[in-house]
Amino acid sequence: MSTVLITGASGGIGYELAKLFARDRLNLILVARSGDKLAQIATELRALGVTVKTFSLDLATAPAPKFLFDQLQSENLSVDILINNAGFGAFGEFAQMSNEEIFGQIQLNITTLTELTRLFLPPMLARRTGRIMNVASTAGFQPGPLMAVYYATKAYVISFSEALANEVRNSGVIVTCFCPGATHTGFATRAGNDKSRLFKQLGAMNVDKVALDGYRAVMEGRTLAISGAHNWLVAQSTRFAPRKLVTAISRWISEPVH
Ligand SMILES: NC(=O)c1ccc[n+]([C@@H]2O[C@H](COP(=O)([O-])OP(=O)(O)OC[C@H]3O[C@@H](n4cnc5c(N)ncnc54)[C@H](OP(=O)(O)O)[C@@H]3O)[C@@H](O)[C@H]2O)c1
Repeated sequence: MSTVLITGASGGIGYELAKLFARDRLNLILVARSGDKLAQIATELRALGVTVKTFSLDLATAPAPKFLFDQLQSENLSVDILINNAGFGAFGEFAQMSNEEIFGQIQLNITTLTELTRLFLPPMLARRTGRIMNVASTAGFQPGPLMAVYYATKAYVISFSEALANEVRNSGVIVTCFCPGATHTGFATRAGNDKSRLFKQLGAMNVDKVALDGYRAVMEGRTLAISGAHNWLVAQSTRFAPRKLVTAISRWISEPVH
């Protein structure tokens, strides 16, 4: 039976993905900071007949990815599907943002995702099989005033994932970049943009639908998948519209409304 490692599996999209993989009878390794939530989820999913291992880890700390990899190596556990899902955003002007928020986003959304890929890809290449899905965002298709760092981290994830998918195209390993748009999870509350036009007026998608799109994307081996037809259209339109206009609209949708 294959094993899937999901980061950020204690809630939101990661938890929904875990349920889908468990229903498909794949064993799970779930990682997040909240050990109590992970323990509850593990009990729930073990009832579906799969093995679930949990790691309560702050992946925004530098040693965490290597620690996780070494733990799994020491138990002879190999990962067949890696889902780099953990990520967070912070709302506000860059100049007012704390270093913790700025560099925390870069560490978790970029550095940890890259390091986990660096660690788990070589064993997959050696076995000539495996899948990696990096969760980016439609935010990665344009600059994002008021969430400048978050949008930029997701642009990195898209660029990195598409390039890597190309590099490994004949290796038996498939790399997928999954881009959700606004989704009802704990994300907006943590980011502080739950009052934005995007979340309050334009509408967010339900998390189960988004996770199902992600699950299909990785199982079908797609290189880039955008969840939701409206999100796909917006992502395409940003390719042709003037950059300044795109940036101004991006700011408008991030602004708070009352
Ligand atoms: N929701 C949206 O509108 C949206 C849109 C586009 C893309 N995305 C992306 O989708 C991914 C999942 O987000 P979500 O919407 O499901 O958000 P969420 O509900 O806030 O879930 C985030 C998950 O990541 C975990 N996490 C956060 N910081 C962590 C850390 N330092 N170390 C380990 N785990 C950590 C959280 O668990 P703990 O708190 O227990 O650590 C939680 O399990 C993210 O990469 C996000 O950028 C979300």
